[in-house]
Amino acid sequence: MSKEYDIVFKNGTVIDGSGNNSFSADVAVKDDVIVAVGELDETLAEKVIDITGKAISPGFIDVHTHDDNAVLKSPECLPKISQGVTSVIVGNCGLSAAPVRLKSDPPDPLNLLGDQSDFIYPDFHTYVNHVNEIRPAVNVGALVGHTSLRVNHMDDLFRQSVNSELEAMCEELDKCLEQGAIGMSTGLAYGTARESTTEEVIALAKIVKQHDGIYVTHLRNEFDKVIDAIDECCTIGETSDIPVVISHLKCAGPDNWGRSQEIIDFIENSPYSDRVHMDCYPYAAGSSTLDLGQVDERVKILISWSEKHPEMGKKYLSEIAEEWGVTQLEAAKKLQPAGAVYFSINEEDMKKIISHPKTMIGSDGLPHDPHPHPRLWGTFPRVIAKLSREQKLFKLTEAVHKMTGLSARNFRLHKRGLVREGFHADLVIFDPETIEDSATFDKPATLSAGIQSVYVNGVKTFADGQLTGHRSGRYIGKEKAVVKECVHSN
Ligand code: ZN
Ligand code: CU
Repeated sequence: MSKEYDIVFKNGTVIDGSGNNSFSADVAVKDDVIVAVGELDETLAEKVIDITGKAISPGFIDVHTHDDNAVLKSPECLPKISQGVTSVIVGNCGLSAAPVRLKSDPPDPLNLLGDQSDFIYPDFHTYVNHVNEIRPAVNVGALVGHTSLRVNHMDDLFRQSVNSELEAMCEELDKCLEQGAIGMSTGLAYGTARESTTEEVIALAKIVKQHDGIYVTHLRNEFDKVIDAIDECCTIGETSDIPVVISHLKCAGPDNWGRSQEIIDFIENSPYSDRVHMDCYPYAAGSSTLDLGQVDERVKILISWSEKHPEMGKKYLSEIAEEWGVTQLEAAKKLQPAGAVYFSINEEDMKKIISHPKTMIGSDGLPHDPHPHPRLWGTFPRVIAKLSREQKLFKLTEAVHKMTGLSARNFRLHKRGLVREGFHADLVIFDPETIEDSATFDKPATLSAGIQSVYVNGVKTFADGQLTGHRSGRYIGKEKAVVKECVHSN
């Protein structure tokens, strides 16, 4: 007869994801579920693992990723699982791999997810089925990208939609939500969505409401008009009566440095504040495709790739411009299509935003970039090591809450994000004293230190710096029950 527990983790410090104080307890797992937390009888366990001196917490949830295709093309998900990430939310910034039906190359910035041959999910449930067949190392929950819907139903993205197009987008979105999508994302700052009106987005958001979903947005403007853009986001949420998440919140560009308090005050004072959350990554630099509008002599720009000039990857735009004897703007035009890291964020602003109790951790990592921003590999250990342990911006329990309990609640991930009886056994065991990111702008693809082992749905997937070869991720969208138990109380 099989024993009551498959595994008991003994003598660890439980950081349960709620934001409450940590405590000493044993944690028992049976199959893919946490079945007991407390002082447990180890004779009831098939296997006892002593984790004295280590912390055990819910697996981290990366709420802002562009891993749509990466989780299926490279299902071992090393950049994520090695950080202790056990679930990712894909489909951010208006860009989702599903549903997409392309007739030619993906328009910028949909090309962040891959090239035309990577877009093989004409409908949403094909994507969900694929995740459940391939079983990537991490769980996957997906948003439907507004830009992806536009690509499917409009012949020209650089204009407003007409009624028939909007109706077709609503109909398709409805189907996706029926098939398990968590909500909808927009990327209103990008040319491919910029011409869409607030009304277009509200019409779609009302469909999201019918399925109890959420609205996630890369704001229309993250620079001088950031307040207007937050206001628009709140209007969209309020008019359609759904919760909103502002992606990678920032005040970008030197002219806007120092405005983080103004932004936070605006959000806190909004009548819709209770239903607004945000995510943020722990770096003072952003990354996306190379946008001419962001070329600013005062901002360092690192070119991560260029289709026409691959030899210029890993070089600074200022160096390239000098080499070519042209202005930075002219150099940028010649490099496009290209990818870039923009050092356009003020460190103090980032710290203020990421420390806010409403802010979750999202990496915004770009897995298809040959020289990615280090956030792809380092975000989660960096928040714990640099921001919590070294700079003491918030407690370790708060850091973990921002990447687990808070995230699961806001993204409606059923029975995830807490170490609690009955919850899925997504667990990370780490050393709070030595956990540390190692990825840098020079060497981004570097494993973090201090992560001892990572379990996904009860399966040991990463341990002692290596993949175990076992994968157990699954699609985790849309389970109606919200994680209500997770109340942050300090
Ligand atoms: Zn974005
Ligand atoms: Cu993004």
